[in-house]
Amino acid sequence: MGRKPLIAGNWKMHATHLEAIQMVQKLSYRLDIADYERVDVAVCPPFTSLRSVQTVIETDHLPIALGAQDVDWRGQGAFTGAVSVPMLAALGVRYVIVGHSERRAIFGDSEADVGKKAGAVLEGGLTPIVAVGESLEQREAGETSAVITSQLRAGLKGIEPDVVARSVVAYEPVWAIGTGRTADPDTAAESVGVLRAEIADSHGDGAGAAVRILYGGSVNPGNIAAFMAKRDIDGALVGGASLDPDQFAAVVRFWV
Ligand code: 13P
Repeated sequence: MGRKPLIAGNWKMHATHLEAIQMVQKLSYRLDIADYERVDVAVCPPFTSLRSVQTVIETDHLPIALGAQDVDWRGQGAFTGAVSVPMLAALGVRYVIVGHSERRAIFGDSEADVGKKAGAVLEGGLTPIVAVGESLEQREAGETSAVITSQLRAGLKGIEPDVVARSVVAYEPVWAIGTGRTADPDTAAESVGVLRAEIADSHGDGAGAAVRILYGGSVNPGNIAAFMAKRDIDGALVGGASLDPDQFAAVVRFWV
């Protein structure tokens, strides 16, 4: 079975819930049923906007999936400031980004943390988007494959092959995030190929062939088609361009 593309917008720490309502409404005006048939579309607003965006999606029956940007792996308890998987599930959240490079670099998420988060997300019936990517320093030192393979292994540790098959991985080279400097599509496809081969190796050929792997890092309407033309790249995790509904819709409609 072919892999349906997924284009997910990571809004990061942008938009109040009022702005978020407008953003998802505007996005919905720019997409139609034929677009959703071709591409799975998701938006990942901050926690404070999830409920508002969920309400718009449900009220207007939009085929837009809701995603969260992070989660705690623990179910509940005295963990001030944390948000659990059951809390997200109750809001209709479908995808949860785990291991974004900003979480790793700024908030200290370790490889083991990312694995626990991915496991908790799957346990709760949601889909993790496991983000991996090398820094510029690591790329220049020739460590890219080793770094992303290690991050991926830790992220998918202990997860059954059939479950890995329905998970999502995002390859986001740190040096391409928010910089306007994309990986060139060949370079991105090469790393995505490394990740797919690693999954085939660790979880079997079926999981390797089925898992969706996205590219992320300065994706915009002008460059998305070149990434989507790569056989192994199944979509994009979009930051800055996802904040503008016109631009995000144009990324979703990458073939136009
Ligand atoms: P930009 O698209 O702003 O580079 O961000 C990419 C990203 O980090 C998505 O998760």
